[in-house]
Amino acid sequence: MIISLIGYMGSGKSLIAKELALKINYLKIDLDNEIEKKNQQKIEILFKTKGELFFRKEEHHLLKEFLTNDANKVLSLGGGCPTYYNNMELINEKSTSVYLRGTPSILSQRLKNQKTKRPLIAHLKDEDLPEFIAKHLFERNAFYNQANIIVDIEHKTPEQLVLEITLHLDRLWD
Ligand code: S3P
Repeated sequence: MIISLIGYMGSGKSLIAKELALKINYLKIDLDNEIEKKNQQKIEILFKTKGELFFRKEEHHLLKEFLTNDANKVLSLGGGCPTYYNNMELINEKSTSVYLRGTPSILSQRLKNQKTKRPLIAHLKDEDLPEFIAKHLFERNAFYNQANIIVDIEHKTPEQLVLEITLHLDRLWD
Protein backbone atom coordinates (compact mmCIF):
# COMPACT_ATOMS: atom_id res chain seq x y z
CA MET A 1 0.00 0.00 0.00
CA ILE A 2 1.03 3.59 -0.57
CA ILE A 3 -0.19 6.58 1.42
CA SER A 4 0.41 10.02 -0.10
CA LEU A 5 0.41 13.05 2.17
CA ILE A 6 -0.55 16.25 0.39
CA GLY A 7 -1.20 19.81 1.50
CA TYR A 8 0.13 23.33 1.46
CA MET A 9 3.67 24.26 2.53
CA GLY A 10 3.88 24.28 6.31
CA SER A 11 1.06 21.79 6.87
CA GLY A 12 3.47 19.30 8.45
CA LYS A 13 3.62 16.66 5.74
CA SER A 14 7.25 15.68 6.37
CA LEU A 15 6.85 15.29 10.13
CA ILE A 16 3.53 13.47 9.90
CA ALA A 17 4.89 11.18 7.18
CA LYS A 18 7.81 10.28 9.44
CA GLU A 19 5.60 9.61 12.48
CA LEU A 20 2.94 7.76 10.51
CA ALA A 21 5.49 5.56 8.75
CA LEU A 22 7.07 4.71 12.12
CA LYS A 23 3.72 3.83 13.63
CA ILE A 24 2.51 1.54 10.85
CA ASN A 25 5.95 0.29 9.91
CA TYR A 26 5.99 1.65 6.38
CA LEU A 27 8.89 3.16 4.50
CA LYS A 28 8.91 6.98 4.49
CA ILE A 29 9.78 8.81 1.30
CA ASP A 30 10.02 12.59 1.04
CA LEU A 31 9.76 13.56 -2.62
CA ASP A 32 11.54 16.90 -2.15
CA ASN A 33 14.48 15.11 -0.52
CA GLU A 34 14.59 12.65 -3.39
CA ILE A 35 14.68 15.51 -5.93
CA GLU A 36 17.53 17.12 -3.94
CA LYS A 37 19.44 13.82 -3.76
CA LYS A 38 19.06 13.11 -7.47
CA ASN A 39 20.17 16.61 -8.47
CA GLN A 40 22.73 17.09 -5.68
CA GLN A 41 21.19 20.50 -4.99
CA LYS A 42 18.83 22.08 -2.46
CA ILE A 43 15.37 22.93 -3.83
CA GLU A 44 15.92 26.68 -3.46
CA ILE A 45 19.14 26.48 -5.51
CA LEU A 46 17.49 24.23 -8.10
CA PHE A 47 14.72 26.81 -8.58
CA LYS A 48 17.36 29.51 -9.07
CA THR A 49 19.70 27.67 -11.40
CA LYS A 50 17.31 25.54 -13.45
CA GLY A 51 13.93 27.19 -12.88
CA GLU A 52 10.56 26.00 -11.60
CA LEU A 53 9.61 24.16 -14.79
CA PHE A 54 12.66 21.90 -14.47
CA PHE A 55 11.72 21.25 -10.82
CA ARG A 56 8.11 20.37 -11.76
CA LYS A 57 9.32 17.92 -14.41
CA GLU A 58 11.66 16.25 -11.94
CA GLU A 59 8.84 16.14 -9.38
CA HIS A 60 6.47 14.50 -11.89
CA HIS A 61 9.08 12.01 -13.00
CA LEU A 62 10.05 10.94 -9.46
CA LEU A 63 6.42 10.85 -8.32
CA LYS A 64 5.69 8.25 -11.00
CA GLU A 65 8.77 6.32 -9.96
CA PHE A 66 7.75 6.18 -6.30
CA LEU A 67 4.09 5.45 -6.98
CA THR A 68 4.95 1.83 -7.68
CA ASN A 69 3.85 -0.89 -5.35
CA ASP A 70 7.24 -2.40 -4.54
CA ALA A 71 6.87 -1.71 -0.82
CA ASN A 72 4.50 -0.25 1.74
CA LYS A 73 5.32 3.42 1.92
CA VAL A 74 4.25 6.84 3.09
CA LEU A 75 5.01 9.50 0.48
CA SER A 76 5.39 13.09 1.58
CA LEU A 77 4.76 15.31 -1.45
CA GLY A 78 5.72 18.95 -1.97
CA GLY A 79 2.85 21.42 -1.72
CA GLY A 80 2.64 22.03 -5.46
CA CYS A 81 3.00 18.42 -6.57
CA PRO A 82 -0.72 17.51 -6.84
CA THR A 83 -1.40 20.67 -8.87
CA TYR A 84 0.87 19.95 -11.88
CA TYR A 85 0.44 17.64 -14.87
CA ASN A 86 -1.93 14.76 -14.08
CA ASN A 87 -0.21 14.23 -10.73
CA MET A 88 -3.37 14.25 -8.57
CA GLU A 89 -4.99 11.69 -10.85
CA LEU A 90 -1.91 9.46 -10.55
CA ILE A 91 -1.76 9.93 -6.78
CA ASN A 92 -5.37 8.77 -6.37
CA GLU A 93 -4.97 5.95 -8.85
CA LYS A 94 -1.90 4.45 -7.19
CA SER A 95 -2.22 5.45 -3.55
CA THR A 96 -4.51 6.53 -0.75
CA SER A 97 -4.22 10.29 -0.46
CA VAL A 98 -4.45 12.28 2.74
CA TYR A 99 -4.86 16.08 2.68
CA LEU A 100 -3.43 17.83 5.74
CA ARG A 101 -5.70 20.87 5.69
CA GLY A 102 -4.63 24.12 7.34
CA THR A 103 -6.17 27.58 7.34
CA PRO A 104 -4.23 30.51 5.79
CA SER A 105 -3.80 31.88 9.28
CA ILE A 106 -2.10 28.81 10.81
CA LEU A 107 -0.03 28.25 7.65
CA SER A 108 1.20 31.87 7.63
CA GLN A 109 2.16 31.60 11.30
CA ARG A 110 4.19 28.48 10.63
CA LEU A 111 5.75 29.70 7.39
CA LYS A 112 6.90 33.06 8.73
CA ASN A 113 10.14 31.54 10.01
CA GLN A 114 10.62 29.06 7.21
CA LYS A 115 10.44 31.22 4.10
CA THR A 116 14.06 31.06 2.94
CA LYS A 117 13.90 27.36 2.10
CA ARG A 118 10.75 27.91 0.06
CA PRO A 119 11.35 29.73 -3.23
CA LEU A 120 7.68 30.48 -3.88
CA ILE A 121 7.31 32.63 -0.75
CA ALA A 122 10.91 33.64 0.04
CA HIS A 123 10.42 37.10 -1.49
CA LEU A 124 7.27 37.95 0.50
CA LYS A 125 7.09 40.18 3.57
CA ASP A 126 5.62 38.51 6.65
CA GLU A 127 2.59 40.79 6.54
CA ASP A 128 1.82 39.78 2.95
CA LEU A 129 1.90 36.04 3.66
CA PRO A 130 -1.74 35.55 4.79
CA GLU A 131 -3.20 37.13 1.65
CA PHE A 132 -0.82 35.31 -0.68
CA ILE A 133 -1.53 31.98 1.01
CA ALA A 134 -5.30 32.53 1.02
CA LYS A 135 -5.31 33.11 -2.76
CA HIS A 136 -2.84 30.34 -3.53
CA LEU A 137 -4.68 27.86 -1.34
CA PHE A 138 -7.96 28.76 -3.01
CA GLU A 139 -6.47 27.76 -6.38
CA ARG A 140 -4.82 24.63 -5.05
CA ASN A 141 -7.81 23.42 -3.06
CA ALA A 142 -9.44 22.20 -6.27
CA PHE A 143 -6.69 19.56 -6.32
CA TYR A 144 -6.18 18.99 -2.59
CA ASN A 145 -9.92 18.44 -2.08
CA GLN A 146 -9.79 15.38 -4.34
CA ALA A 147 -7.94 13.53 -1.57
CA ASN A 148 -9.42 10.30 -0.22
CA ILE A 149 -9.02 11.52 3.35
CA ILE A 150 -9.02 15.10 4.65
CA VAL A 151 -7.83 15.99 8.15
CA ASP A 152 -7.73 19.44 9.74
CA ILE A 153 -4.39 20.15 11.37
CA GLU A 154 -5.34 22.97 13.72
CA HIS A 155 -5.01 22.41 17.51
CA LYS A 156 -3.73 18.87 17.04
CA THR A 157 -0.42 17.30 18.03
CA PRO A 158 1.42 15.12 15.52
CA GLU A 159 0.40 12.07 17.60
CA GLN A 160 -3.28 13.04 17.39
CA LEU A 161 -3.04 13.59 13.66
CA VAL A 162 -1.33 10.25 13.09
CA LEU A 163 -4.02 8.51 15.14
CA GLU A 164 -6.77 10.29 13.21
CA ILE A 165 -5.21 9.26 9.90
CA THR A 166 -4.83 5.61 10.94
CA LEU A 167 -8.48 5.50 12.01
CA HIS A 168 -9.54 6.86 8.61
CA LEU A 169 -7.29 4.36 6.85
CA ASP A 170 -8.71 1.44 8.85
CA ARG A 171 -12.22 2.47 7.87
CA LEU A 172 -11.31 2.97 4.22
CA TRP A 173 -9.33 -0.24 3.84
CA ASP A 174 -11.75 -2.46 5.78
C1 S3P B 1 6.37 23.86 -3.10
C2 S3P B 1 6.48 23.27 -1.87
C3 S3P B 1 7.74 22.76 -1.33
C4 S3P B 1 8.70 22.40 -2.47
C5 S3P B 1 8.86 23.55 -3.40
C6 S3P B 1 7.54 24.00 -4.03
C7 S3P B 1 5.05 24.35 -3.56
O1 S3P B 1 7.51 21.61 -0.51
O2 S3P B 1 8.24 21.27 -3.16
O3 S3P B 1 9.42 24.61 -2.68
O4 S3P B 1 4.86 24.57 -4.77
O5 S3P B 1 4.14 24.48 -2.69
P1 S3P B 1 6.81 21.71 0.96
O6 S3P B 1 5.32 21.69 0.74
O7 S3P B 1 7.29 20.47 1.63
O8 S3P B 1 7.28 22.96 1.58
